[in-house]
Amino acid sequence: MSCRDPHSFTDLTQGRIAHMNLDLNVDFGTSRIQGSAECQLAEAAGGPLDMDSRDLEIQTITAADGTSLDFDTDHTDEIIGTRLRVQLPEGTSSFTVKYLTSPGASALQWLEPAQTDGGKHPYLFSQCQAIHARSVIPCQDSPLARFTFKCDMTVPEALTVVMAAAPGEARDGATAGTRTFAFEMPQSIPPYLFAFAVGNIVSEDLGPRSRVYTEPETLKKSAWEFAEVDTMLTNAENVFGPYLWDRFDFLVMPGSFPYGGMENPRLTFLTPTLLAGDRSLVNVLAHELAHSWTGNLVTNASINDFWLNEGFTVWAERRILENMEGLEAKALSAAIGRNGLMEAMNSFGMDSDFTKLEIDGSGTDPDEFYSLVPYEKGFLFVALLEETVGREKFDDFVKKYIKEFSFTSLTTAQFEKFMNDELPGVAEKIGAEEWIHQPGLPQNAPVFTSDQLTMLEGLAKGWSDGQRPDVAVAKAWTPDDWQIFMQALPRTLPEADCAWLDSNFDLTNQGNCEILSNWLVIAAGSGYEPAFDRMRSFLSEVGRMKYLKPLYSALNGGEKTKALAGEIFAANAGGYHPIARGGIERIVVG
Ligand code: BES
Ligand code: ZN
Repeated sequence: MSCRDPHSFTDLTQGRIAHMNLDLNVDFGTSRIQGSAECQLAEAAGGPLDMDSRDLEIQTITAADGTSLDFDTDHTDEIIGTRLRVQLPEGTSSFTVKYLTSPGASALQWLEPAQTDGGKHPYLFSQCQAIHARSVIPCQDSPLARFTFKCDMTVPEALTVVMAAAPGEARDGATAGTRTFAFEMPQSIPPYLFAFAVGNIVSEDLGPRSRVYTEPETLKKSAWEFAEVDTMLTNAENVFGPYLWDRFDFLVMPGSFPYGGMENPRLTFLTPTLLAGDRSLVNVLAHELAHSWTGNLVTNASINDFWLNEGFTVWAERRILENMEGLEAKALSAAIGRNGLMEAMNSFGMDSDFTKLEIDGSGTDPDEFYSLVPYEKGFLFVALLEETVGREKFDDFVKKYIKEFSFTSLTTAQFEKFMNDELPGVAEKIGAEEWIHQPGLPQNAPVFTSDQLTMLEGLAKGWSDGQRPDVAVAKAWTPDDWQIFMQALPRTLPEADCAWLDSNFDLTNQGNCEILSNWLVIAAGSGYEPAFDRMRSFLSEVGRMKYLKPLYSALNGGEKTKALAGEIFAANAGGYHPIARGGIERIVVG
């Protein structure tokens, strides 16, 4: 099978790397990793083998007997990176690449001590989805090319390594003052799930299968916020079937982590912006947990099929929410999702190809077209399927889907075939063709409503006519209530209205990042000066793109605030993860 991944040089007809033995030496002084990757092929091969790399300095490639192999790095594509072509002698079953990463490696963020909670030790972490693994290890960086690995990682002795893999023993490193941590990943993964972090990291057990890792300063808060993890795990197993990754641990990251969460197997990464102190944002943990099935067991074949990962996962996340908190909570969450979906579709244009479920991402950087469409349109499609066939039948369908495709990567076409085989006639009935292959949102999208939702949206819609929430009542609103309300408010408010909201509800000093970011976007759009300092501090503390992008866009869009956007970005760009920096640059610099 040749590789159909438009974002990789991988050609599986040349051979497949099934296992890697990695040896990584982290040098905080130069912000580089000295790496050695022994690549073992699924079957012996000969001739050219193409791998992906980005900004890697390839030093040597040797055969198992130590002889040097020819290679070239002659082909570079701005989006995909550099093709590493190794010439394999006939019958090769393994070879070793020695290489050095670049200080600008797109997957890696090197943090100064000042950017950590403790402020004393440096920190390093990776974020490989969608196509950044190639900047850390030379690999067939396509989700179609799963591999297992062992990895030894050597770091300064004061630091700890955690990895999305099973930890082994740690030992003194070969050079004085270093320590080597050993890991093994026995389940095969797509390369985008390769992940590690290095820093002053400690942990606490939360259940028989779960533990939270974080810096010591954040441990207690994290353990409290996510104490329900084991209940979530049980709930998820009820939806999907057994959990096959042994443990579900997670790491609460420094503030600059560019996503809400990342489903790295055995070690989910989470943003510290979830630490609201009231467990109101734990849905992100449920989401990453659900990826253990939809995404990590059953994986999208390429970014074109990303909705298979995210749509099913959002559906599962909301099912877990329904089980744990009830239908009202689910309706609010779906409504927040739908707001985000409409905003994303409108910003692409309702007839844009990027509003389809299956997309053609070739020639475009996945980080550039990342949006809520695959999440929320995907969710609505899966929810429609569920609604149409009934929960019991749909649950059987989902369990069978997981079982059938576990540890494989599948295309949208394969999914459609499976759906037609298992649920005959349903695709026609719901117009699956339109859902999957046409832009926009079909008329028969499920609608989730609740009394609370209607009340909140009605209240906000009447804002311009002078309607105001009762202050005492609104003070008791949940964070989700606030989000719904603020998302339905006009994007620009008169100064007096901003002042009314801020003085009654102290929004500028909100600790809940969802409330705060929704408020700051309105305040920025309104040019509300009393909130400018908080915008400055928020944009310097937090690297989560979900918050950065709308706030920078709102600031950049206003006459009065455009310069402020540029100024804040200039002051903080160096502290953002390369992926976030690139994303904001597109907004602020154009
Ligand atoms: N896998 C994604 C994060 C991701 C996607 C990273 C694409 C890089 C490229 C993760 O599961 C995710 O969706 N996170 C969301 C959480 C949310 C939808 C609950 C986030 O980061 O906000
Ligand atoms: Zn996700």
